[in-house]
Amino acid sequence: MCGIIGYAGPRQAAPILLEGLKRMEYRGYDSSGICVGTADGAGSTSYSLALVKKIGKIQALRQVVPKDFPGSWGIGHTRWATHGAVTDRNAHPLLDNSGRIACVHNGIIENYRALREMLEGEGVVFQSETDSEVIPNLVAKYYEGDLESAVKAALANLQGTYGIAVIHAAEPGRIVGARNGSPLVIGIGDGEMFLASDVTAMISHTKQVVYLNDGELVVVDSSGFRTTDREDRHVDKKIEKVSWELGAIEKGDYPCYMEKEIFEQPESIERALGGRIDFETASAKLAGLNLDRRRLGEISRVEVIAAGTSWHAGLVGVGLLERMARIPASAELASELRYRNPVVQRDSLYFAVSQSGETADTLYALREMQRKGGHVLGICNVVGSTIARESEGGIYVHSGPEIAVASTKAFTSQLAAFYLFSLLMSRMRDLSISEGSRFARALAGVPEQVKKVLAGRDEIQRIAKKYSHSRDFLFLGRGLMYPIALEGALKLKEISYIHAEGYAAGEIKHGPIALVTPEVPSLFLVPDDELREKTLSNMKEIKARGGPVIAVGVEGDDEVAATADDFIATPRMDPRFYPFTMVVPLQLFAYFCALDLGRDVDQPRNLAKSVTVE
Ligand code: G6P
Repeated sequence: MCGIIGYAGPRQAAPILLEGLKRMEYRGYDSSGICVGTADGAGSTSYSLALVKKIGKIQALRQVVPKDFPGSWGIGHTRWATHGAVTDRNAHPLLDNSGRIACVHNGIIENYRALREMLEGEGVVFQSETDSEVIPNLVAKYYEGDLESAVKAALANLQGTYGIAVIHAAEPGRIVGARNGSPLVIGIGDGEMFLASDVTAMISHTKQVVYLNDGELVVVDSSGFRTTDREDRHVDKKIEKVSWELGAIEKGDYPCYMEKEIFEQPESIERALGGRIDFETASAKLAGLNLDRRRLGEISRVEVIAAGTSWHAGLVGVGLLERMARIPASAELASELRYRNPVVQRDSLYFAVSQSGETADTLYALREMQRKGGHVLGICNVVGSTIARESEGGIYVHSGPEIAVASTKAFTSQLAAFYLFSLLMSRMRDLSISEGSRFARALAGVPEQVKKVLAGRDEIQRIAKKYSHSRDFLFLGRGLMYPIALEGALKLKEISYIHAEGYAAGEIKHGPIALVTPEVPSLFLVPDDELREKTLSNMKEIKARGGPVIAVGVEGDDEVAATADDFIATPRMDPRFYPFTMVVPLQLFAYFCALDLGRDVDQPRNLAKSVTVE
């Protein structure tokens, strides 16, 4: 949610800032801007700030930034509006009244009204409606020749969350960054330095990175960086190496990231499982949990904390855990849990599940559980992300960078993590070695089955075209398919803007069936599990009321195929594994509907991939 970038080095800053913003566009894409320090004339040692901002995507900004925009240090921002409409004025960077200080901000300043009034009382005239504009003006208020001290003094006044980068025309080549709740990473190049919300912004220049923690401040210039805490004490930081390559964040031959990520799933699931299935003991090896067998054996309850698609993965996970390991389990929406004063039990295990590892609601819920003595593990994709670092251990899902706003491959990798954990826990309880072996073999075979589903893309595209002009949709399933129905509905909403509701199939008679007309299609998930007959009856109830029915079922299930108007066949497998194979047609269905409607699939309206505000 909002991406910030800074560059200090010998090269022209503007192209580097624009490239970084383009790579972080998924974090917000309603407006953007850059600000660089430029010499006041050839050979001059005095500098001014040059600013360009534009509503729209980075491409719109590119068109208004002059080719020879001079300046070898600067900052940039891509915005997801919170305070103030989407206008050029409200875009960042924001300047102080003198125009000598510029700031980019990701987060929300909660006490901005009081600060604004105070600054207005001192003669400051605000140019934007944003909460963020108080920051450069506070820095100006405290500036006495040292930007670092002025930023520190300004931060002492702020309540809320921020990742910021600040520059001053009087301090060429220097950027001051600080973090409290919104991510900030330092990139160490060869004679040049970067600062960004995310490593993707600088991966084409360096793989050496340092993650800032909350309460830390950094000063960078082309020669290096220095980090301190709020009390001005030096903080030693570890330099880490990004393990993936630039190719992982490029589209390759695909028309968009979402299609690439859907089709990558056989490999991404393979990576999530990689080396973690122990065929000899028919169990799973999850060293990152940092829990010994005795502690694992004492766990009497599992609770998942997550948002959006990650919550849906959690719902599948807890269903499986309960069924296989006979452990009471539940999945909670982080945005609800964090304000509910939850009861935390010492023998419970909490999983904070997040692709980005930065979702504010999930992060704050994690902290609240930890404050109450809860043991929280993370299931994250982004290595080094805040949730991954603040949890006491966990499982990296290794799906590789996910760029499209709507999550696909991270979801199936999160499922893989839960399946591994369920295998481990159930083998420590009642599951026999032969049952465990069967489960382990089926799990290892999931990537192959997903490949078969992907091969059916043309048929799914044909069906999507037939229904893409519907205004409303129902997605229905039972058992492990209920969260998949929720996920299918979410995918369709997110990228096609068709209204879709995910419902437990058994619940439709309690209300939603009133929506059914020949114009409102229902998509049913019908695996050949113990609930098949029940779901089939629900399908018939819809048919009897004239509602069109699409069924995602199992190959050779003629009865389901004959009941539905359209049938998407998936390979027959152990029923516990259908969440992997049955979610894929729903991802493709949403994708092809969105394509047919001419939507911006990778960057749907109003959304952002990494939601670092409440
Ligand atoms: C945003 C994204 C969703 C995502 C959710 C949780 O809303 O648009 O696709 O599922 O955040 O994100 P996380 O990174 O915590 O999994």
